[in-house]
Amino acid sequence: MTTVDLPLLPLGLGTDRSSERGVECPGDLPAVSDPDLVARARRAKERLGDKVFVLGHHYQRDEVIEFADVTGDSFKLARDAAARPEAEYIVFCGVHFMAESADILTAPEQKVVLPDLAAGCSMADMARLAQVEDTWDALTDAGIADVVVPVTYMNSSADIKAFCGRHDGAVCTSSNAQAAMEWAFEQKGPDTKVLFLPDQHLGRNTAVLDLGLSLEDCVVWNPLLPGGGLTGEQLRDAKVILWKGHCSVHGRFSLEVVEALRASIPDVRILVHPECRHEVVLAADLVGSTEFIINSVEAAPPGTSWAIGTELNLVKRLADAHPEQDIVFLDRTVCFCSTMNRIDLPHLVWALESLADGQLVNVIEVDPDTEHWAKVALQRMLDLPGKSHRD
Ligand code: 13P
Ligand code: SF4
Repeated sequence: MTTVDLPLLPLGLGTDRSSERGVECPGDLPAVSDPDLVARARRAKERLGDKVFVLGHHYQRDEVIEFADVTGDSFKLARDAAARPEAEYIVFCGVHFMAESADILTAPEQKVVLPDLAAGCSMADMARLAQVEDTWDALTDAGIADVVVPVTYMNSSADIKAFCGRHDGAVCTSSNAQAAMEWAFEQKGPDTKVLFLPDQHLGRNTAVLDLGLSLEDCVVWNPLLPGGGLTGEQLRDAKVILWKGHCSVHGRFSLEVVEALRASIPDVRILVHPECRHEVVLAADLVGSTEFIINSVEAAPPGTSWAIGTELNLVKRLADAHPEQDIVFLDRTVCFCSTMNRIDLPHLVWALESLADGQLVNVIEVDPDTEHWAKVALQRMLDLPGKSHRD
């Protein structure tokens, strides 16, 4: 996460790159200051033609989004990757777990390339397979594993998705978490419980605001404490067991700033991502995935005032694209997702030129067994009937 102190308003910010470091890439990585980068990216894409399909997550930099064949939230990009069997190379401008999901959903001969391997996700790193297996043993000891359905947010590693596939569970994204949790509660009879990984906030917001459960129905499993920090009785009484993970970007948005903006901007609409803390989501007017956030702004009448709580590249792009609306960022400090930001134009040019020269670089490949079970869990998500109001 990159933060720079700035006054709260107005929005009009540049991209801070001070904390970024280059990573080892075979061959020559073009310099950030290279004035020919745009032309080089265009040329390399032309040379590759239909062989390459470039996917761009909404949190990517403008300079990268310019070269995306399609943009979307993580649900849309997973579907779009699966729908391109003719592309030999899928260049994924997003983070590692998204590229893994694209590899799982595409044909074996298609190669998924992540332009910078350092583009991970701190939330996904908060749940490791060994920890989740230990948790399952504890649920078994508490006598409830038979009625627990694991649901993992897309923002998790492929082996966690595979764990969910093996244990009758599913994957969800921020646009279908409600449908996934409803599906999960239908799987093991009236005593079903959900183990929600790894984002406690998306899990809590979905359980309470979409499914009508109470906060007391949810317990938080801390993988760093013995027994998750919970007693067997607490586990048996809970309906939803939330993994203690969070997004460091969305965790920054606060009720204090929501209240300050409500006091200073008449009729401001607070629009946030469901990875925000429960009190922020409760105080917001609208909550949804990145795709939902874009659709909400696009559908609003001119003159609408917004304070948006999601990653800054997207908020800046929305503000630029909609000068007829007043859009501000819901935080006092500039806050980009530093790992999403690792994909910059030099890395994209390097990846495209390498592919055009016949050299495969930064291929993301999930091993066959993990791929099989992760695909089971992903397919259960893709088969969910309809989508929630958050798409
Ligand atoms: P979306 O699924 O809404 O695109 O969000 C992905 C993400 O990483 C949010 O932090
Ligand atoms: Fe991960 Fe948060 Fe960045 Fe999304 S915004 S990729 S959840 S660290």
